[in-house]
Amino acid sequence: MKRQQYPSFRTVLNRDGIVRVAGAHDALGAVLAQESGFDAIWSSSLEISAGRCLPDFSLLTMTELLAVAADMQKALRVPVVADCETGYGNALNVAHMVHQYQAAGISAVCLEDKLFPKANSFAVDDQPLMDAVEFAHKIEVAKATQDGDDFLVIARTEALISGLSVAEALTRAHTYVDAGADAVLIHSKARTEVEVMEFLHGWRGRRPVVVVPTTYPNWHIDKVRAAGVSVVIYANQGLRATITALRSAFRSILKEGSSQSLEGDIASMSEVFSLQRNADWRKIDNPVRAIAPQPNQDCP
Ligand code: SPV
Ligand code: MG
Repeated sequence: MKRQQYPSFRTVLNRDGIVRVAGAHDALGAVLAQESGFDAIWSSSLEISAGRCLPDFSLLTMTELLAVAADMQKALRVPVVADCETGYGNALNVAHMVHQYQAAGISAVCLEDKLFPKANSFAVDDQPLMDAVEFAHKIEVAKATQDGDDFLVIARTEALISGLSVAEALTRAHTYVDAGADAVLIHSKARTEVEVMEFLHGWRGRRPVVVVPTTYPNWHIDKVRAAGVSVVIYANQGLRATITALRSAFRSILKEGSSQSLEGDIASMSEVFSLQRNADWRKIDNPVRAIAPQPNQDCP
């Protein structure tokens, strides 16, 4: 069976309109987001860590995060934007990372300017930043290492997350673009978009800006677009929806004594098989079935 074809993230970014990206922690979540119409998938370190009941504290190695991003990309027709945290070490690790992610077919990576090991941006821990010039060197190395032009490096500044000013965030973002960054991600944990708007105002559209409106969920897409944002990442809503849905389903089975009352609310087995692409895989060893597939042939 042929691998899925997908555009690079740069191609998606160059289309008209704002790019909407959903976070995921596995290929299934990624495909469901794609099915709903998202333009790209964020392979979120938070989601992937949470999927293993581990904190998002730089515990997972590059190999572990890459394996998930690669699984997602293989299943998708839209590109993955890989959350590569701090780049897994120093500039040498960044060069290795770019080789490995490109080899896996990933066309966009995001690096953040925190010190390794980092804590999730919303965790109560300190959020110390790397020296901006040292981080700019990582960006320079990432760009110098990439093969061809169709690879995108997003420089993420955590200045606001670590309590610094919008002016510092702007200075850092300019330094990273001077070093070759293709886009910047301005992260904020404020309860409104006000400081991000201030950043956008000062940035004056020098390069595409990416935002992650987790703590300011009220920011409607029309306003995000009007503010000059190019990419919006809904980084963890899928994970949080999954937690709520699973809790409710499991509790209901035990409470009701059977799963009957859930049946109307949960996916059917044929939906599961369809997401697994059973029919496509069957074509490989049974051409007759491929010509005349039976509806619901896998359903009990
Ligand atoms: C992630 O989704 O892993 C991110 C975004 O890096 S955040 O959790 O907001 O730090
Ligand atoms: Mg992350």
